[in-house]
Amino acid sequence: MPIEKIIVLEDDLVLRKHLEQQLRARRYDVAAVPTLAAAYELLSKDNWDLIFADVQLPDGEGTDLLQQIQQRPDRPLVVIVTGFGSVESAVSCMRNGAFDYLIKPFSSEQLSITLQKAEDLTRLIRVNDYLNKDRADDGGSELMGRSPAMEQLRSLIRKVARTQATVLIQGESGTGKELVSRAIHRESPRANAPFIKVNCAAIPENLIESEFFGHEKGAFTGALNKREGRFELAHGGTILLDEISEISPQVQAKLLRVLQEREFERVGGNRTLKVDVRVIATTNRNLEESVARKEFRQDLFFRLNVVPIHVPPLRQRRDDIVVLSTQFIQRFVRKHGVNVTGMSTACKESLLSHGWPGNVRELQNVIERAVILCPDGQDLQPTHLGFGPPAAPMAVPVGEASRSIPVAPAAPASAAAAAVAPAAPLPASADSIQSLADLERAHILHALEVCDGNRTKAARHLGVSIRTIRNKLHEYGVAGRDDEAAAADGASGSSAGAA
Ligand SMILES: Nc1ncnc2c1ncn2[C@@H]1O[C@H](COP(=O)(O)OP(=O)(O)OP(=O)(O)O)[C@@H](O)[C@H]1O
Ligand SMILES: [Mg+2]
Repeated sequence: MPIEKIIVLEDDLVLRKHLEQQLRARRYDVAAVPTLAAAYELLSKDNWDLIFADVQLPDGEGTDLLQQIQQRPDRPLVVIVTGFGSVESAVSCMRNGAFDYLIKPFSSEQLSITLQKAEDLTRLIRVNDYLNKDRADDGGSELMGRSPAMEQLRSLIRKVARTQATVLIQGESGTGKELVSRAIHRESPRANAPFIKVNCAAIPENLIESEFFGHEKGAFTGALNKREGRFELAHGGTILLDEISEISPQVQAKLLRVLQEREFERVGGNRTLKVDVRVIATTNRNLEESVARKEFRQDLFFRLNVVPIHVPPLRQRRDDIVVLSTQFIQRFVRKHGVNVTGMSTACKESLLSHGWPGNVRELQNVIERAVILCPDGQDLQPTHLGFGPPAAPMAVPVGEASRSIPVAPAAPASAAAAAVAPAAPLPASADSIQSLADLERAHILHALEVCDGNRTKAARHLGVSIRTIRNKLHEYGVAGRDDEAAAADGASGSSAGAA
């Protein structure tokens, strides 16, 4: 039962006792009080799910209570209980956020109906909160790290969160762009409204417009019912357009209009809808370069880039590596119920000399695997990290930092992924080092082969979008299954919210 605790606020003793009894009989935990002051006292001490409130009370009106409650993060639902003579004030209470009203005297059946509605709504709210909470099991949504770059990032987040400005977050894969976007929403005045994420790369091109803007019944084959788009769902809140570089020129034009006018039409509809949404976009490509190559509209880029945020790669904030590792160890020790005591100095050194091309995501995966491999009651050692023999890292200067080359690929995410990892022996001399592009090509083609040419399956195992695979094959000049079939696969296989 999502509703457990109820306050009955009623100054008439007989009515108060009666309602209290009826609720107790339905096994609710009830507190019954005659004044607003007493109700505030209860609210300050505990969380309540529902309040039955009389309109006229000795020390004020039910509307005062509504105003107070609107400011609480854990708002209980309020049912106004009113005499026949004061229906008008009940209506005004509804306008001020009351959930429902009951007119005295009411039957046991009327009470049951109201309770059922409150139960249903509370359940929906809870499920929604749960779905909005990002991956609670694998790690919370807190941005960790104490490097100057992270502190700067945090202060920028606090600053922009207060505004309505559109934000463009750029940075390499795995640096924490999504985490940053969630932090902006959480610290903004929209925190209690929806946060809706659209993964632009995971949605097949032909469906993206209806995903954004919704569609009317019969708008296209398969549109059996009217459907609201993500922009509508995000009304009052924030929409995250993840991997924005992946949208087609046609959808770019429509998005530009939403950003300029905050209005759009559903696919197949002619009614113009207005929305109030804060837009955050992320990309791990350099959008300026996409603009220069004429793949991305310049006007759209300017609209998105009102507040640019750059999340630096992990190799540029090495101070964070040990801090993050320590916190990840604690997290995974809890998650897997093991007893790892910490990490050895050699392990720290090994972590610090790694290049982290996969950034924080890679670090997180490495630590999770290490925690599982490490025997109970011991510190993590370099061997648990899966980087290969400890003496092996070779430092090569790469632009801003010197990276080491991981001797073995990071742990595959699943057994199925392990099956598609190529068993290429690693070269002994620098001359024979294969380029990353060649390795990537070989790895993608190998994955496709193992997955019988099924791009969706291969994409899932590789942890990339089907669109990435499609683009890569295009780049390699490899013809595969037609895109329509692959797109249909993508629609069923990859949920829009999935990373
Ligand atoms: N500063 C951080 N503190 C804690 N966890 C982090 C941090 N940065 C990233 N992570 C974790 O690393 C993983 C990748 O983060 P996120 O999904 O935000 O990256 P991203 O930049 O959006 O990557 P991509 O471009 O591949 O989508 C997540 O599991 C996230 O929780
Ligand atoms: Mg992301």
